[in-house]
Amino acid sequence: MKAYYSARAPYYDAVYEQPERAADIAFLRDHLPARFSGRRVLEIACGTGYWSQHLAPACTGLVATDGLDAPLAFAKQRPGVDPACCLVADAYALPESLGQFEGAFAGLWLSHVPIARRGEFLCGLHRRLRPGARVLFIDNSEVQCRDYPICDTDADGNTYQMRPLRDGSQHRVLKNFPHESELRAMVQTFGAELVDYRSLDNFWIFEYQLPA
Ligand SMILES: C[S@@+](CC[C@H](N)C(=O)[O-])C[C@H]1O[C@@H](n2cnc3c(N)ncnc32)[C@H](O)[C@@H]1O
Repeated sequence: MKAYYSARAPYYDAVYEQPERAADIAFLRDHLPARFSGRRVLEIACGTGYWSQHLAPACTGLVATDGLDAPLAFAKQRPGVDPACCLVADAYALPESLGQFEGAFAGLWLSHVPIARRGEFLCGLHRRLRPGARVLFIDNSEVQCRDYPICDTDADGNTYQMRPLRDGSQHRVLKNFPHESELRAMVQTFGAELVDYRSLDNFWIFEYQLPA
């Protein structure tokens, strides 16, 4: 997946230019910053910083992280984003040096987390968050499979897609489509309170709050 997203970084933003996604994107561009207003926020797997540029002006401070340098180089150039706060960090090993946050956001990331690693990812994320922190994930709905059909399912139930890049190479990418009940169960063990789940035409939104 890392080779795939490194190579795709220069033209990754094409996903936000698809006409059928325009209404959802417009909604999210208003909705997401409002959910984090006045909070110090940690963004996971920020990629090229498409959402970072919308979140940063609303937050008290945004630290945007990604596992790879190539997409982060684009995030650093986004208006309103502090390049010094764009940091390489593995989502499964978020260092203490990042600090403590009242909010966390990840766009189109949870779908890439293997089912067996969801707990590990959330444990590590929650260690970086203060009590009462707000966490919000957005991701693709199954409509996205029209572009990339599921080609494989492994023994754990993870699904995979073959993704072509512009250089003609093909990449087998883990991409899951968790249902609302799975998401609820995933955070229940942390005593989290569900704030919102909603389906848009192309994306879902899942928001919860950690115990105070
Ligand atoms: C689908 S992109 C999402 C980018 C951005 N959040 C967005 O919504 O446009 C997935 C991102 O996950 C990053 N990534 C892959 N493995 C990672 C890891 N172990 N830790 C942190 N980021 C990772 C990739 O570099 C890529 O930027």
